[in-house]
Amino acid sequence: MDFPIFHIDFIGNRMLIAFDAILHVIINHALAVGALPVIALLEHTGIRLKDPRWDTLAYRLLKIIFIITTTVGALTGVGIWFSASLVNPAAIGSLIRVFFWGWFAEWIVFVTEVSLIMAYFLSWQSAARSAEAKQKHLHLGIFLAAFSWITMAIIVAILGFMMDPGNWLAERTLISGLLNPMYFPQLAFRTTLAMVMGGMTMICLTYLFTRNDFGFRASVLRLVSSWSIAWMLALVFASIWYYQVIPQHMFANIPVAVTTQEFVSWNSSLKWLLIVGLSFVGWVLWSSVKHPGTVHGAKYIASVLLLFAMLGQFERVREFIRKPFIIGNYMYANGIRVEDYPLLQRDGILQHATYASIRDITDDNKVSAGREVFEQTCTRCHTVNGINSIRSQLKKMYGDKLWQSDVIAAYIENMHGARYFMPPFPGNKAELNALAVYLSTLQKRATAFNGVQINGIPKPDKISAATFYGALPNLDAPHGVQK
Ligand code: HEC
Repeated sequence: MDFPIFHIDFIGNRMLIAFDAILHVIINHALAVGALPVIALLEHTGIRLKDPRWDTLAYRLLKIIFIITTTVGALTGVGIWFSASLVNPAAIGSLIRVFFWGWFAEWIVFVTEVSLIMAYFLSWQSAARSAEAKQKHLHLGIFLAAFSWITMAIIVAILGFMMDPGNWLAERTLISGLLNPMYFPQLAFRTTLAMVMGGMTMICLTYLFTRNDFGFRASVLRLVSSWSIAWMLALVFASIWYYQVIPQHMFANIPVAVTTQEFVSWNSSLKWLLIVGLSFVGWVLWSSVKHPGTVHGAKYIASVLLLFAMLGQFERVREFIRKPFIIGNYMYANGIRVEDYPLLQRDGILQHATYASIRDITDDNKVSAGREVFEQTCTRCHTVNGINSIRSQLKKMYGDKLWQSDVIAAYIENMHGARYFMPPFPGNKAELNALAVYLSTLQKRATAFNGVQINGIPKPDKISAATFYGALPNLDAPHGVQK
């Protein structure tokens, strides 16, 4: 409501964030949080056994980690915040208000992490000069592993908060937001999953890097496989714990979404991946502990790919079951707060949207007004012609019959009841009708729009009321909208 609408019609706003975020999470879990402790473990073992081969291998693995995490890893991490703040600035705004000090801490920890990985990688060779220097260098590695976990631990607080803010809804304090009901279970789940992913990825690379020394390969594989299998056991418990704290209403999405083929298949493929995938990975790790020299490399590679797929699928399902909210019970995915609904449904959203060119709907401006309503209320999830396009949805529902605006309006009025994952329609009756008229025109002709939509010049009173404080006037407050 307070910001211009940013829209990419081809891949859609959801996919834009999803591509970037899933790539980032895979790199973060497999190559930072889960891999760095393995590097320190290898370095430590090399020191203990006085065998330089461990050290050389650890350094080669770290080189790959260093290059990928400081380039694609760091860029996609920043990319999440850029894309998310374009697509849903209201949600990011609320998160910053709640987690202001968390953001600040995250920034410090992130900068420390980047500095530590620079120091750890760049000083590796010079640390070989003395046993004392080597020991100090190992400490750097342990610190680095700890900091990379702390960055994740802070972000997971925000992710858990978005799923279920818990007591924060009543208390509105930073601590109640941080200690949301999902925090510890999700942190346990991600930590253990990251350790298994990191271990498995390092196993794969070790396999590739030790082709000329089978004895040494077997020792490394046995050690890292034992480490990973221990985490794998913890992962099973963490998954069960996490599953148990998912609020009941989120499961409601699953039966309601029965006709959402896409979702049903994601959800069942996640279950399938979890059960079959984890058993397979467990079996590979177990054989690798027992007979490390004999496991075929393809099994390691298959395990890594399965773990990546599992994580990607997990993120998709997690994001889906949070719907219709972007912040559980506080803000809907369309960026509108639950508490602002009564006001908007009374006055209309266009009256309160900072960037809207039409405020009052007439017979002449219905279609353009409807498009603005569509931008404000549907485009966070739907495109016109691209992925999850509104046209394909309407086509699925009404086929080649004439798309009648009153039928569409009747659907939208109840869409939240019919499909729980969609927020209720936030506007008033006139806007509902305008939206339906606009949607019915899409049957014949659909012009997609892209980029930043700035409709009209914001009124100064809208800017000061909304943009800076993010607060719409309270419905009951005397300084609210006076009619
Ligand atoms: C929180 C995201 C979200 C928002 C906001 C949203 N939708 Fe949806 N909508 C979805 C998803 C997801 C589907 C299901 C896609 C699928 O089945 O593949 C869907 C499906 C639909 C369908 C087909 C429903 C059916 O029964 O098959 C229609 C029609 C629709 N949306 C219209 C709208 C309109 C109009 C708006 C804006 C007023 C809107 N949606 C806002 C996420 C959203």
